Amino acid sequence: MVKILGIIGGGQLGMMITEAAKKMPEHISKIIVLDPTENCSAAQVGAEQIVADFKDKDAIIDLANKSDIITYEIESGDSDVLKSVEKNAEINPSPETLRIIQDKVLQKSFLLENDIPIPGFIKIEKIDDIKDNVKNFGFPVLLKARRDAYDGRGNFKIDSEDKIQKAFDYFKGQNLLLEKFVPFKMEVSVIASRNTKGQIKTYPLVENIHEENILRETIAPARVTEEVTKKAEQIAEKIMSVLQGAGTFGIEMFVTQDDNIVINEIAPRVHNSGHHTLQSSETSQFEQHLRAILGLELGGTKLIHNTIMYNILGTKEFEGEYQPLDISNDNLFLKMYGKRISKPLRKLGHFNLVGTNGESIDQLLQKLEILKEKTIVISA
Ligand SMILES: Nc1ncnc2c1ncn2[C@@H]1O[C@H](COP(=O)(O)OP(=O)(O)O)[C@@H](O)[C@H]1O
Ligand SMILES: [Mg+2]
Repeated sequence: MVKILGIIGGGQLGMMITEAAKKMPEHISKIIVLDPTENCSAAQVGAEQIVADFKDKDAIIDLANKSDIITYEIESGDSDVLKSVEKNAEINPSPETLRIIQDKVLQKSFLLENDIPIPGFIKIEKIDDIKDNVKNFGFPVLLKARRDAYDGRGNFKIDSEDKIQKAFDYFKGQNLLLEKFVPFKMEVSVIASRNTKGQIKTYPLVENIHEENILRETIAPARVTEEVTKKAEQIAEKIMSVLQGAGTFGIEMFVTQDDNIVINEIAPRVHNSGHHTLQSSETSQFEQHLRAILGLELGGTKLIHNTIMYNILGTKEFEGEYQPLDISNDNLFLKMYGKRISKPLRKLGHFNLVGTNGESIDQLLQKLEILKEKTIVISA
């Protein structure tokens, strides 16, 4: 049966899901996104749009009435509202999976119960809970918002006793957790998918470089030993099998100083560190996500070329319309997200630098240095 796909969120992830969906006309006849920004990124590539807030109950009901199957690009959806419309449209990942993942305490408790390695953490309800627990954890520690965090905005690093009050006040009454700081060697991630029939596939381990808590670069594959890669991929598969959700997930991990893997967090959606798959892999993460939620056989996840993904971020201290970039060539694939206005560190696009001629990661990194200068966003 050909289906109408609803997507909550029409930013860049919704945009690239839409583009993948348009290449599957035998399975998907129409795409509708729900997004508050008029002419959002996904609408610019052919999705119909319901203009409304992500948490607007009536708009979600409307979307469910118009769609056969619903997915999302954001994790902040209201899982209760989604549960209530499950009779109108199939929702994947399921509202129950979303409910667990979107709350970092529920997520981490779930991982702990399933013997998945995570940093030590504890739920925080009052300031004394922090004071009591820093003694066990030792400085530094991270105070984190349980919900709706992104790009590090939900984290506060506490490195001494006298920062506790400031950290607590920063969150203005949000629900919190305290987490042990992991002095990691590297941040890595696995993009993993599970289809509605239970088939699981993972993409090879990639390396992520953050700047100011925002993903800047992904290096595929990660520069770690085979043993570390294997460990990470096995943990990702285990997470997918216990989680039971259908869809594509981004699993963020730390490689510790002694080469162990600790899970940082799971995103219940396609992930920025999977954008390289658009050109590097047999199947893109966006197509894979659709295959997963439609119950189709999952595509191959082999990495065909070494690839570096680089995010194009808005220049600091600049807000406004910006000059278009023109850098694409045979092995450089630029993808802009159609956002008219640049803001400091806003994700405006990315490019994939692909080793189509067998280039090594080192060779690609050298090329990247020159390209970085050509992708600085400036005023139009
Ligand atoms: N326990 C930790 N120890 C060390 N660094 C951490 C820890 N938790 C998070 N970080 C750093 O902060 C970044 C953002 O944290 P994360 O919990 O993933 O929040 P977000 O939801 O904003 O992505 C991580 O990518 C990592 O660099
Ligand atoms: Mg994160």
